[in-house]
Amino acid sequence: MIINLFDLEKEFPNKLPDAIEGYYSSGARDEVTLKRNRSIFDEYELLPKFLKDVSNINTKTKILNLEIDSPILLAPVAMQQMAHADGELGTAKAANKFNTIMTHSTIANFGIDDLSPVHDKLFFQLYFSKDRDFTKNILIKCKKKNYKAIVFTVDAPRLGTRERDERSSFKMPDNLKLGNFIGTKFENFNNIENLEGSSMSIHSDHLFDPTLTFEIIEWIKEVSELPVLVKGILRPDDAQNALNHGADGIIISNHGGRQLDTAVPTLKQIEPIRKQIGNEPLLIVDGGIRRGTDILKCIALGANAVQIGRPLLWGLNHSGQSGVELVLDIINKELIESMTLSGCRDIGEIDRDLVLINR
Ligand code: FNR
Ligand code: LAC
Repeated sequence: MIINLFDLEKEFPNKLPDAIEGYYSSGARDEVTLKRNRSIFDEYELLPKFLKDVSNINTKTKILNLEIDSPILLAPVAMQQMAHADGELGTAKAANKFNTIMTHSTIANFGIDDLSPVHDKLFFQLYFSKDRDFTKNILIKCKKKNYKAIVFTVDAPRLGTRERDERSSFKMPDNLKLGNFIGTKFENFNNIENLEGSSMSIHSDHLFDPTLTFEIIEWIKEVSELPVLVKGILRPDDAQNALNHGADGIIISNHGGRQLDTAVPTLKQIEPIRKQIGNEPLLIVDGGIRRGTDILKCIALGANAVQIGRPLLWGLNHSGQSGVELVLDIINKELIESMTLSGCRDIGEIDRDLVLINR
């Protein structure tokens, strides 16, 4: 029986080859950050409020002027067709049904032309290619195709090593394509010869540009003519610096524990970053969010919204688009339960004084 997201996680390797399950599930090196992202939620305790007439709970909120039904967004996750043929197209349709935002990864199987007709609240996650023309063209296309923001991922000047992928020589299956690279040599992984280790890292050596500095945020804004959110921030000074360079919001993330192992768990950094940047700037967080109470804690500490990554893969693998809908349904209902039981009638009532930090 599927009651919660962990039930879907247990069913997850459903017919998937080990190498693909490994790519999706693993974190970098010893996976300390991967585990800490989750275990830290137990160290934060809730102090519920009662007798507040919680007969009506409203989870609606606004992100960059987009009115959405709940503060639970879908994080950018690469190559979703390895989990189910519906892939990113199914995820986008599910996001549309639940009226929430989906961020489309640069390294997706479906391209911008495929997704833009099915959902009008899409962000595009940018891996900034060394090929500046490629980057420029894709940014221009996002605006043309009605994407609402660029999510610029900064925690990957190179790929963190996931040792399971090294051991399995992980490779995207030959029948799949990368939808944003059609017509380039990165369209699929077939051209990688003498593969030893993860082909993701070979790919990303071509794609990721390690020379970037904060000034590039202004360039991305100028070329895309879209708001830019900077994803992968863990420090208050980096958050402030990004905003000073024109960022329209910050996404606190450690890439689901896939980049620098032993990097701080994200929950810990919400309050210090909110303190540094003040009340106004948009602040989103991801990493290990699986429960309604997790979302309550993130918002109480200063986030405007949260993102989920791996759970959408568990949903896709379970039953395609309807599996992603199941994930959104479960977690949204848990959020409503958590708000009801803690005396929060709407997102604005989720205050700092709901959380005790038990260290
Ligand atoms: C990711 N993530 C990611 N981030 C990004 O900016 N671009 C990408 O292409 C990907 N791809 C990707 C693939 C897979 C398989 C995973 C698991 C993650 C990171 C993602 O956006 C997010 O930060 C984390 O997944 C959040 O943590 P949870 O919810 O997976 O614990
Ligand atoms: C990953 C990259 C693609 O985490 O973001 O695998």
